[in-house]
Order: sequence, then C-alpha cells, then structure tokens
Amino acid sequence: MRRLDAELVLVVVLLATLQLTCTNADWWSLGLQSSISNNVDPHIPHKERCSKLEYLIDSQKRLCSQHEKILPILAYSAKLAIDECQNQFKFSRWNCTSFPEKNTTFGNVVTIRSREAAYLSAVSAASVAFAVTKACSKGELSDCSCETNKRLRKNQKWKWGGCSEDIRYGQDFSKKFLDIREDGNTAVGLMNLHNIEAGRRAVRTRMTRVCKCHGVSGSCSMQICWRKLPNFKLVGEGLFQRYEGSSHVKFVDKRRRKLRIINPDFKKPNKTDLVFLDDSPDYCEKNDTLNILGTRGRECNRMSQGIDGCRLLCCGRGYQTRVREVEDKCKCAFVWCCSVKCDICRSRREEHVCN
Ligand SMILES: *[C@@H]1O[C@H](CO)[C@@H](O)[C@H](O)[C@H]1NC(C)=O
Ligand SMILES: *[C@@H]1O[C@H](CO)[C@@H](O)[C@H](O)[C@H]1NC(C)=O
Ligand SMILES: *[C@@H]1O[C@H](CO)[C@@H](O)[C@H](O)[C@H]1NC(C)=O
Ligand SMILES: *[C@@H]1O[C@H](CO)[C@@H](O)[C@H](O)[C@H]1NC(C)=O
Repeated sequence: MRRLDAELVLVVVLLATLQLTCTNADWWSLGLQSSISNNVDPHIPHKERCSKLEYLIDSQKRLCSQHEKILPILAYSAKLAIDECQNQFKFSRWNCTSFPEKNTTFGNVVTIRSREAAYLSAVSAASVAFAVTKACSKGELSDCSCETNKRLRKNQKWKWGGCSEDIRYGQDFSKKFLDIREDGNTAVGLMNLHNIEAGRRAVRTRMTRVCKCHGVSGSCSMQICWRKLPNFKLVGEGLFQRYEGSSHVKFVDKRRRKLRIINPDFKKPNKTDLVFLDDSPDYCEKNDTLNILGTRGRECNRMSQGIDGCRLLCCGRGYQTRVREVEDKCKCAFVWCCSVKCDICRSRREEHVCN
C-alpha cells in the first residue's frame, strides 16, 4: 500500500507539472512522462486540478472532477495506449512516434483520418475501459468495485464468487470520457465513434472466466468462478489485426448520416472492425508539417518480405549494412557461494539500416 501511495504522489506531481507545460493538447498528454522538474504544490484539491488540465475539454474536466481518484488512472491508461501502439507498430513505417515536447502527442499526422488514426482511437478507448475496470477491482475508485454477481448468469456446475472485474463500469466510463468529444453528425465524428466502440469491444470480448476448485482434498466438487480482464497486450494485438483488415469508408448524408464502405465487393465492417476515411501517407519521407519522421535510419530486417523487411521499410531507397561488435555475458557459472560469474564474449552483429 505504501508503494502505491508513493506512486500516486508521483503521478500527481507529474500531472500538476504537465498542466503548466501543455496548452491545448490532447488527453494522451496525461500519459507522457514530461518534465517532472517544476515545483508545483501537489496538494491542490482534485476538482481544481481537473479544471486546470487544459488538454481536457470541458465535459471531460467535469467528469474528472466527479471522480476523486481518476487522474492517475487516466494517466495510466494514456500511457498504456501509447506503449501498446508503439509496441504494435515498432516494425512499421509509422512507428507511433510520440512527441513529449509538443502539445499534440502524436503530431499532426493523426489529423489525417487514416487507418493509423483509427487504431489509436480504438486502443485508447480500450485502455480507458481496461484501466478503469482494473482500478475498480483493486478498490482504487469509490463508486465501483467488483461486478455484483447477481448480474451474472447462474450456472449449475460452478458458482460465481471472488471478484469479477466490472467491465461494464469501465466501458461506461470510457464512453463518457471519449464519446463526448465526438460529433456524430460529421464524417470524422462517426469514424471515431465507430473505432472507439470497436476498441471497447476488443476488451469486453476477451474477458475470460477463471475458476478455482473447492471441495474436500482436491475433489473439486465445487468450483468458484469469476470474470477476468485479458492481458492488455492481447487487446492491442487483436486491434492490430483489425487495423490490418480495416475498411475504407465514405460519409453518406442521406436520411441518416452514416459511413458506408467504398468498395461494395468487400465485407461490410461490423462493430468490431476498424474504419477509416482517408488513405494514409506512405510515411517514407520526413514531413515536418505532419510530424512524420520518415524511415531513413530505421533498422530493417533483410530476410523479411513484410513491412519490417528492408525493401518495404526503406521505401525502395536501399539500405546499408553495418557490422557492430556486441558484448554479451556468456559462459556463466555458479560460484560457491553464492554468485554467478560470467565472461564477456564479443560477437559481430549485422545491422541493416535504411538509406
Ligand atoms: C500548439 O501550440 C502552438 C504554439 O506553440 C499553436 O500554434 C498550436 O495551435 C497548438 N496546437 C494545438 C493543437 O493546440
Ligand atoms: C520510431 O522511429 C524513429 C526513427 O524514424 C526512432 O527515432 C524512434 O526511436 C522510433 N520510436 C519507437 C517508439 O520505436
Ligand atoms: C466481424 O468481422 C470480423 C472480420 O472482419 C470477424 O472476424 C468477426 O467475427 C465479426 N464479428 C461479428 C460479431 O460478426
Ligand atoms: C507534407 O505533407 C503535406 C500534406 O500532405 C504536404 O502538403 C507537404 O507538401 C508535405 N511537405 C513535404 C516537405 O513533403
């Protein structure tokens, strides 16, 4: 518990600091480990702190102030989303670069209504639902806890018990926090609303039931089961697969405003699919207006035909091979008593780097 308190204080200091350094930025800024150097009084009341977070819009500030301990959880979920995006895209031309020093976390590239922007919306909505649900079951928030088992279906062979994680609460919070920013009458609003819902579903559909045996000496005559969140990596991975198969849609403004798939030969997107409106840039060359870094200097995989392979990642510009001496621990042996002694071995490693 002590350690947790210390962590909370750290996050609070971090948040208090951020509110001075950012103006007008997006809520992902909550997850960036920007300068912790400014000496801001961390004892500002919660409501005041929420209202000062300039990168939240007014309705988000209101929601924030209604939930006493929500800020570190939002900071955690932003970080979770950023980390997972960077993990999934580490071999892609656009590698989910974040710009801690800027007021737009991912730069202007996400103003393009691309499939990459779709992934970001989805993974973010997923991370908020996930982090809030986790916090509920850990007792970190006052108005939620474990799911009341009354709500869960009854079963003969086993009984609900323990702490079922309350994904409904997390989903609802994610909805309140993120959907409110979107205007369902616009093309981009509809795109974002679709993708954030897909993100939340990616968490919900991966909930699992875990059970534990009870009964005399391992007889397992009775099982107690509860619902458990998936590992967030699985969610990120699942969404990355949806990203790869995402649907190109257009805005139609007929009786009802909606998005429709451009190529009718393709499968219509369902609620778990991701949709996008604009083709992506190729991300090959540096573009400072869009904050695209380009792929020069990126390490590529010479053996791969995929997007991490030198041909695709380097955009046909070719690559250079460098040989580096690397030092590793090796020939480790246990020495009585009690340490492990290793030699340092040198080896050569080939690295291929895009021109
Ligand atoms: C970011 O800050 C710059 C000035 O530093 C400003 O011109 C720009 O409008 C800001 N961008 C956003 C999205 O707030
Ligand atoms: C993304 O690629 C750039 C080079 O284009 C590199 O500097 C950066 O470290 C990479 N970021 C991540 C998160 O992998
Ligand atoms: C939605 O479509 C995906 C393929 O894009 C499919 O794998 C999935 O089962 C579908 N989900 C539902 C609920 O129909
Ligand atoms: C960067 O991208 C913008 C928008 O696509 C384009 O207008 C501009 O010419 C690009 N700049 C460079 C230096 O390529």
